[in-house]
Amino acid sequence: MKKILAIYGSPRRQGNTTLLLNQAVQGALDAGAQVEKVVLRDLKMSPCLEIYGCKETGRCVIQDDFQTIYDQLLDCQGLMLASPIFFYNVSAHTKILIDRCQSLWVKKYWIDKIPYGQRQTERKGLFISVGATKGKRLFEGTLLTLKYFFDVLDMELWKALLYRGFDFEGEALTHPECLKEAYEAGKELFLSLSKGSSA
Ligand SMILES: Cc1cc2nc3c(=O)[nH]c(=O)nc-3n(C[C@H](O)[C@H](O)[C@H](O)COP(=O)(O)O)c2cc1C
Repeated sequence: MKKILAIYGSPRRQGNTTLLLNQAVQGALDAGAQVEKVVLRDLKMSPCLEIYGCKETGRCVIQDDFQTIYDQLLDCQGLMLASPIFFYNVSAHTKILIDRCQSLWVKKYWIDKIPYGQRQTERKGLFISVGATKGKRLFEGTLLTLKYFFDVLDMELWKALLYRGFDFEGEALTHPECLKEAYEAGKELFLSLSKGSSA
């Protein structure tokens, strides 16, 4: 069974990205996936302290809730990550998680010595984001961050669902076409992971 990890990066409990990610999770569940959910705002997670305690084993030495997510990130085959746009990047909750994954960068490039940009796994990720404004460049900074984050995770950024003009809590509910797109993406993610595999 292919495992999917769904990470909620909004500080809002019923935020727009939360509502969209809920749909993607439901799509994957309906297709038969096993999904674990992580709500970042509920965790106690320090920012990266840049002490490089990870350089011996590739594991971060700060003992907090990141330790569980680290194992979940290594264990899943599919990742769904949802974050609002805050100042043209991901939310602070999401960025803390990304920075703590510097331990995985250390593991991949310093310890395992994988040539830059090579992927060793068939893992795939779905990214969901929304911003209030409608500018053409709204997601540019975030997508660059995501590109390097997914590289460190040894994962293909399989699909990004990016929506402009969503601001108030719950606004995503007034866009059933976006909810449906997220549901279908969740389903497709699981089906694409399962293709050609009996596990
Ligand atoms: C701290 C903060 C920074 C924001 N920065 C941006 C921004 O740079 N561009 C933008 O279009 N919207 C920005 N927004 C609006 C949010 O992206 C928008 O409200 C979004 O719908 C929130 O998603 P959520 O409900 O999933 O948390 C910002 C909101 C906050 C609270």
